[in-house]
Order: sequence, then C-alpha cells, then structure tokens
Amino acid sequence: MDSAGYPGRASPAESEVMPSRGRFITFEGPEGGGKTTQAQRLVARLGENGIAAVYTREPGGTKLGEAIRSLLQFDGAGEPPCPEAEVLLFAASRAQLVRKVILPQLEKGLWVIADRFADSTTAYQGFGRGFSLDDILRINRFAIDGVAPDLTIILDIDVKEGLRRLKERHILNGTGLDRLEREDLPFHERIREGYLELARLYPERIRVVDASKHSDIVAEEVWALVQDVCGPSISA
Ligand SMILES: Nc1ncnc2c1ncn2[C@@H]1O[C@H](COP(=O)(O)OP(=O)(O)OP(=O)(O)O)[C@@H](O)[C@H]1O
Ligand SMILES: [Mg+2]
Repeated sequence: MDSAGYPGRASPAESEVMPSRGRFITFEGPEGGGKTTQAQRLVARLGENGIAAVYTREPGGTKLGEAIRSLLQFDGAGEPPCPEAEVLLFAASRAQLVRKVILPQLEKGLWVIADRFADSTTAYQGFGRGFSLDDILRINRFAIDGVAPDLTIILDIDVKEGLRRLKERHILNGTGLDRLEREDLPFHERIREGYLELARLYPERIRVVDASKHSDIVAEEVWALVQDVCGPSISA
C-alpha cells in the first residue's frame, strides 16, 4: 500500500503550470486518543504557517459517507451490519471520500488532514474482528486507488484511559457510546496492538505518539513529526 504511486501525478511540463501537490496526513489510533483534537489543531497550525489544509473524517466526509457513518455507528438502517457488510461499508465511505474530497484537494495543492483512514479498517476489522489482513489490504487497495498517506500518526493510548476520556466527552455532549465504542475491552486491546504492529510493519510512513500526555505536548510532538517528514514543503 505504501509504495503505491499516486495516479494523475503531473508530468514535468504540466507541473510548471499546476500547483504542487498537497500533503496527505492521517491520524489513527484507539478510541479517545485525541485524533479529532489533534487533527483540528494541526489544520489550524498549518494555516498559521501559510499552508492551506482541510480537515476530513472517516467514516464520513461526503454526503454519502455521512449517511454510511450513521448506518455504521447507530444502526441507522434498523439493524446492525454483519461483519462482512461492516468492512464493505467502511470501504465504500472511503472510496467516495478519496475521489470526491482527498484527491481533488491534493491536486489543488491543499493539504488533507484525515481523522482516520485505511489503517482503521486494518486495525478494527482485521486485528479486531479477525478478517485476514490479505483480504483487508485488497479491499483497502481497491477503495483508495493508490492515494496513500505521506504520514500517518498513531495516537497511542491505554485502552481504559481512552475509553474513560470518551465517556467524559459523551457526558459533556449529552451523547452515547456508538456501536464500536461499546465493544468489549479485549476487542479494543487487539486494535491497539494491531496499530502498533502496523507501525512496526511500515516505519517509514507510520509514527507513534504517546497520547497520554497533555494535549499541548502531543500537539508539539505532532508538529515536530510533520516538520520532519514534510519539512521541505513547510519551508517552501
Ligand atoms: N491529551 C489529552 N489529554 C486529556 N484529554 C484529552 C487529550 N486529548 C483529547 N482529550 C479529550 O479526550 C476526549 C477524546 O478526544 P478526541 O475526541 O479528540 O479523541 P478521538 O481519538 O478523536 O476519539 P474517537 O476515537 O471517539 O474519535 C475529548 O473530550 C478531548 O477533549
Ligand atoms: Mg474522533
């Protein structure tokens, strides 16, 4: 997946008139690690540094994707999806997001900061539900069509601490745990371990940040990684 080339890359002659392609950064990790918090902070910080970036989330990010999100999170169809349908619904949302949002924005030269992407399916449906990683990677590859992240940041958090943060947030917002958040602790432990395994498999793309620290410290570590991996673009 990492080595997949980007489709539609400008030839040298075209690149003289086309804006240079934006960077694609994804946030991943177990529940409650701070993905949404940090993805939004990064968009703001990039803006302060003169880089136009857009936030998007999965499942969702498009009209179709948001409809799929409600089917997945709160059984919006009136029944829960079977595990196989769950994999394919996540992939359908992703396919739409890649073609309607991510690729067009990158081609305009904007950076895209995604709150979850393909690694979530590998972690949740592969390591969590037990589907073969080969099958998951094949489905992901079909959905993303070579649009791989330049950098993936895993916000690693103790599972119980992450779920505690989530429950606090739900109490504050008057909301309830969704279908995946209600899964048992061993499921969430397998997801955390799955993410750490992905980081070992793809060390060039995936970096792990300790998300148990104060969110200001996490934000500094995220910024340092972005400068490290995407630095030439920032200083350009
Ligand atoms: N470093 C941190 N320390 C303490 N609390 C945090 C930290 N980062 C985020 N939070 C709080 O924890 C809760 C979960 O954060 P957030 O929603 O950003 O996590 P998430 O990874 O996006 O969760 P989800 O898996 O539900 O999407 C929020 O209430 C947020 O304010
Ligand atoms: Mg979130």
